[in-house]
Order: sequence, then structure tokens, then C-alpha cells
Amino acid sequence: MASLGRVALLPVVVVAMAAAAAMVEGLGVNWGTQASHPLPAKVVVQLLRDNGIKKVKLFETNLDAMSALAGSGIEVMAAIPNNMLHDMAADPKAARDWVKRNVKRFDFDGGVIIKYVAVGNEPFLEAYNGSFIKATLPALENIQNALNDAGAGDRIKATVPLNADVYNSPAKNPVPSAGRFRSDISGVMTDIVKFLAKNKAPFTVNIYPFLSLYLSDDFPLDFAFFDDGGPPVHDGGNGVTYTNVFDANFDTLVAALRAAGHGDMPVIVGEVGWPTDGDRRATAALAERFYGGLLKRLATTHGSPARPGQRIEAVYLFGLVDEDRKSVAPGSFERHWGIFRYDGQPKYGMDLAGQGRRANARLVPAKGVEYLSRTWCALNPKAGDLGKLGEKIDYACSNADCTTLGYGSTCNGMDARGNASYAFNAYYQTQSQKDEACDFQGLALPTQTDPSTHACNFTIQIATSAAAPAPEPGVVVAALLMLALAQLVLLSSC
Ligand SMILES: *[C@@H]1O[C@H](CO)[C@@H](O)[C@H](O)[C@H]1NC(C)=O
Ligand SMILES: *[C@@H]1O[C@H](CO)[C@@H](O)[C@H](O)[C@H]1NC(C)=O
Ligand SMILES: *[C@@H]1O[C@H](CO)[C@@H](O)[C@H](O)[C@H]1NC(C)=O
Repeated sequence: MASLGRVALLPVVVVAMAAAAAMVEGLGVNWGTQASHPLPAKVVVQLLRDNGIKKVKLFETNLDAMSALAGSGIEVMAAIPNNMLHDMAADPKAARDWVKRNVKRFDFDGGVIIKYVAVGNEPFLEAYNGSFIKATLPALENIQNALNDAGAGDRIKATVPLNADVYNSPAKNPVPSAGRFRSDISGVMTDIVKFLAKNKAPFTVNIYPFLSLYLSDDFPLDFAFFDDGGPPVHDGGNGVTYTNVFDANFDTLVAALRAAGHGDMPVIVGEVGWPTDGDRRATAALAERFYGGLLKRLATTHGSPARPGQRIEAVYLFGLVDEDRKSVAPGSFERHWGIFRYDGQPKYGMDLAGQGRRANARLVPAKGVEYLSRTWCALNPKAGDLGKLGEKIDYACSNADCTTLGYGSTCNGMDARGNASYAFNAYYQTQSQKDEACDFQGLALPTQTDPSTHACNFTIQIATSAAAPAPEPGVVVAALLMLALAQLVLLSSC
């Protein structure tokens, strides 16, 4: 029996290896779980395997994900969230305990292949007002030292995923070769770089061409992509002409690393991607164009113009699936970064081998996803008194995701009734179709008729046993603000 089993497995292994060989080397994805109905961990791991994805980056190190990843052969970047940085910094023993519970426990033959530990997530974002500036380096030191003491330090490296806002070029000479670490943190950044170098650990940076475009109306659209269509930027400092912001941004980091004495430090791109909803430039078509160009670029040019011979160590796409509980403080697009929808369905054509925009190249959809029943919640057509509608929509949307209703989004442009139905359904699905979640004092009714339009999906949630985390307070506030605006429009049109 045993040998039969092995024979039967052989062809599968061969196919899997062929798929892996065809994929862009060093490619991974970010697996975030801030969703009301996260896909089961086993489904996610199968989804990664079916698509030949060999690397995954986490935002926390939860037992579910780690158990599902055990034995999968997928390389993992485990993670320590920002809210644990102060504890990790204050006490080497806390760091040793963390390593014991989250790394050592899974670090065995047939367990989880942990390659990196992410210490914090973009801890120097200006939005955090400097609250993590003192803690990050000591936390990094304590974690790497704990890994070293545990005898795992040559296999497992601690690193800090940083936003690309930790470096810039001076306004007077805005070219990549003039890149330096941000002046308010240049001391701590230099110390971090030195510590990483001492431990042969990589620098990790998140690069977002979409945000360059979103944050500046003057930003030339084509410079966000890889079609050589952008207005070329000539850098006299290194003789390179840049035609896309990804390379320009990456090489600004290379210059900052050089200035800190470590120009050849390995670099991981911790996050890069394009969202598909919540802004007029967050569309599936532009995401397809962005990834088509990025993957082709990674398949053909391994380094960057300033370091042509040195391969980017790894590139993690952001993200795997849409997350309907992410904070929308950065923008409504925040919940739409997935290369897959919330249910593991691909959104657009994508070829992970980077062979250009090959016709019909599709990601493999998730298998074994169970949905709730085909029931939607919509505005009751017989509802008489609509006086409370604004208030009810407000309530629904502060507890569910209505970001697709906004300007430039897929569900924008419906009439007031369409808006109401969308909000009621979003809430009903988030509440896993509980009867009492589709009432709104008689204003709403369940229906078996799909209210979706050509552009706008009224979704059915997936069935999942995972307990959904409560939304962060910031999410509720932002949603309330947005809906307060929507309500004004709605009321005035009623
Ligand atoms: C940072 O400071 C601003 C303005 O003082 C404040 O509104 C915000 O809540 C602070 N953020 C954090 C994370 O402390
Ligand atoms: C709506 O969902 C269907 C699958 O249920 C998908 O095929 C379609 O692309 C989606 N449309 C949009 C605009 O997201
Ligand atoms: C529907 O909601 C969106 C976003 O909340 C808003 O921009 C739009 O004006 C609303 N439409 C109507 C007709 O009220």
C-alpha cells in the first residue's frame, strides 16, 4: 500500500515542480486576516499551493495559519504586530518567550519553514506620531538575539517591514541617487541597518506606486506602471533614466543604504500591489496592468537599475484576499487590495510566471469554499415611511463594509434605494444572514433575487467558523464620517 501511494503521488509532485519553476523567483504574497469572514486557513494554504506560491508573509503569528502551513513546503515570514513592540523591547525574556511559542514550536522537520520574523509593521509611519521609534530597534535586537540563542539565527532572520516613507530625496535634487533616510529617524535607521548587516538579515520595504498616484494629482499615471510610458526621469547621479516609480523608489532606498555604509544589503519588498475598488484609479483593469508589468519586470530584470546584478531577495504581493475589516483611514481602497476577492475568486487575469499579459492567464480559484445561502437583504419595496432610512443605512455601514458605494467605486451611481439595499445587504452578510439582521424596523426584507448590477456586486458571504474580530474603533469612526456625508446626500434626495 505504501509504495502504491508513493507511485500515485509522483505525477502530482512533477506537476507542482513544473509550476514552481515557471513562477517568478522569490515571489510571495501577504496573507492578512482582517476580515469579518476570513477564508479557512486550510483553504488559503491550498490556494497558495494551487497557484505555485512558495512564500507567504503574515501580520501576526496565529496558530490556525501556522498549523495549516505546517508541512506545506511554503516559506513563512512570521510576524510580531506593533502593539507588542514595547514588550519585546523592554525585556529580552519576553522576546525569548515569543520565539519559543511562535517559532521554536513550529521549527522542525515537517513543521513550518520559517525564514523571517517581521518585527512590527511600518512602525515609523508618520501617522503613529513616533510612538514606536524607541522600541523598534531594541525589539529587533531582542528577537534576533533570541533566535540566535535558540540556534536558529543562521536560518531565521528578524527584519522590520518599513514603509517607503522612511527615506526620500531632497527637494532640491529629487533623484534616486540622492536618497537618504528621513532626517527625523536617520539615526535609528542607520543603527537598524547596522544591526541587520551584522546578522546578515535583509532590509524590508513596502513600495506602493498606487499611493504615489493617489496622494498626488500631479503624478503622471503612466509612471506608476511598467510600460515605459512614463515621462523619463534622468538621474545624473547614477546615469540611469527611470521610467517607472517602482525602480526609482527602490533605488532611492539603495542610495540611502549606501550612504549608511551598506549599499549591497539584501532587500525584500514586503508589500507591493494595486487595489481594485474604493477609488477611481483602484480598478481591476489598472491592477491587471500593474501586475502584468511588475511580474514581467521581475521575471526579466532581477535587480534594479542601481544594482543590476543583485536580485531583489523576495517580493511579496499585497495582498492575497480582500479584507472587509481593515481600517479605511488611508482611503476606501484599503479593503480591496486582494489579488483574490474575499472568497478566493480571482479578480482579473494574472500570470505569476511573468510572461507578459498572456491571454487567459488566470489564477487558480480557491477550492472548497462554502457560501451562506443565496439570500440577499434589500430595501422593502413596500416600505412606506422612509424617514429613518438615513439613520438605518448609517448603522448598517458603520458595522459592515460599504466602501464600494463611494465616488469612483464599483457601486457608486445607484439611486438612493440602491444605496439602501446595498447597505442593508452588506450588514446582513456581515452578520452571517441572521434573520434579525435584515429588518431595520420593516425597511428591509430578505430576497432570493440577486440585486447585483453589471458593475456592482451584492455579495453573499462565505460560511466560516472563525470568530470574526471586532472592528477597530478607528474603522467605525471613519465609516461613520463617510456615512454622515452619504446620509446628507441621501436625505436631501428623498
Ligand atoms: C497622532 O497625532 C494626531 C494629532 O495630534 C492625532 O490626531 C492622532 O490620533 C495621533 N495618532 C496616534 C496613533 O497616536
Ligand atoms: C461580481 O461577482 C462575480 C462572481 O460572483 C464575478 O464574476 C464578477 O466579476 C464580479 N463583478 C465585479 C464588478 O466585481
Ligand atoms: C449613494 O451613496 C454614495 C456613497 O455613500 C453617495 O456618494 C451617493 O451620492 C449616494 N446616492 C444617492 C442617490 O443618495
